[in-house]
Amino acid sequence: MKLEIAKDIYWTGYIDWDLRNFHGYSTPDGSTYNAYLLVDEKPTLIDTVKHYGFEEMVRRIRQVMDPAGIRYIISNHTEMDHSGTIDRLLELCPQAEVVCSPKGAEGLQRHFKKNWKFKVVTTGDTLNIGRRTLQFVLMPMVHWPDSMATYLAADAILFPNDAFGQHIASSERFADEVGLDVVMQAAAKYYANIVMPYGSQVNAVLDVVSKLAVKTICPSHGLMWRRAEDISRIATSYRAWASHQTEPRAVIIYDTMWHSTELIARTLYAGLEDAGIPVSLFSLQASHLSDAITEVMRSRVVLLGSPVLNNNVLPTMAGFLTYMKGLKPRNRFGLTFGSYGWATAGFKELENAVTESGMKLLGPGTYVQYIPSAEDLARVRGLVPLIQQAMTRKE
Ligand code: FEO
Repeated sequence: MKLEIAKDIYWTGYIDWDLRNFHGYSTPDGSTYNAYLLVDEKPTLIDTVKHYGFEEMVRRIRQVMDPAGIRYIISNHTEMDHSGTIDRLLELCPQAEVVCSPKGAEGLQRHFKKNWKFKVVTTGDTLNIGRRTLQFVLMPMVHWPDSMATYLAADAILFPNDAFGQHIASSERFADEVGLDVVMQAAAKYYANIVMPYGSQVNAVLDVVSKLAVKTICPSHGLMWRRAEDISRIATSYRAWASHQTEPRAVIIYDTMWHSTELIARTLYAGLEDAGIPVSLFSLQASHLSDAITEVMRSRVVLLGSPVLNNNVLPTMAGFLTYMKGLKPRNRFGLTFGSYGWATAGFKELENAVTESGMKLLGPGTYVQYIPSAEDLARVRGLVPLIQQAMTRKE
């Protein structure tokens, strides 16, 4: 069944029900790669899909028109989940031009090694496709250098590619059909894992986009946003995430060998809970790092714990620290803890990761030899007032 989202505009994407890992980010709910077909005098496809979704995308296009008639393929972003089938599609519509940013043209040539008919555009450029005219806004580093948005003023629709997206596979196409809280949580996880390092670039894009009349946002993953209140909520959240605003809450992320670090983590957890501070607890043996980092995004204080293994932290924690340093959750406070046998050098990794992520250490780490004693645990409990003060302290 063809899905017309506005007059002569069709969703022709691929629903990836089975996706469980998106380059290291856990996707328990799958995802979609959204392509949008604009039927006009010069039919135009905005983005394509991942390589294995080609047949499904073409089936959806054929429900509307013969793909041979497509005149423009807009590549808002080179990454292969959106541009991975341009080459195969061009075999069906060889006269089509590929519309992309300057960096997009470079990236597509590096990926496909083909000299297609490129129409290179930049911010403010327009493309008339018949009754309607498209406008382009470059979005460098949201989240690749080539990223751009396409805007359709006639229908007040923004096609911002990865921005405002979520990894959710569903038979519904709009956020309000699924439930806003569910979609917002997925959007937060998406932002935390993909977009978080690029806050200043996101704010710059929001400044441009906020001047456009937008009635529908059609991202390249997940659900579309069409209700004014939903658009306002996702735009407000993007502004807050991009500005590294946090909630007065803590997250404890740890791994453990012989349960000593776990005992410290759980003592902190109980102390914070007793003090009325919202807190969440992630064992990296049980939780995926992409879920832990999503909680870091909203938390004012990040508590990291590991035992020492061969002068290092545990490999699960080392992996998380690498991930966190790359995603740079600035403007937060960090505190470290752990258990050791005879050497404490490994704890330096925890402390360095806090500062290298752009967070401030709230105080010295709390490290306990072998098994925590009652006095050690009292010392751990004694950290709660420090954490409590950080909830209102300016970074
Ligand atoms: Fe969904 Fe950056 O690709």
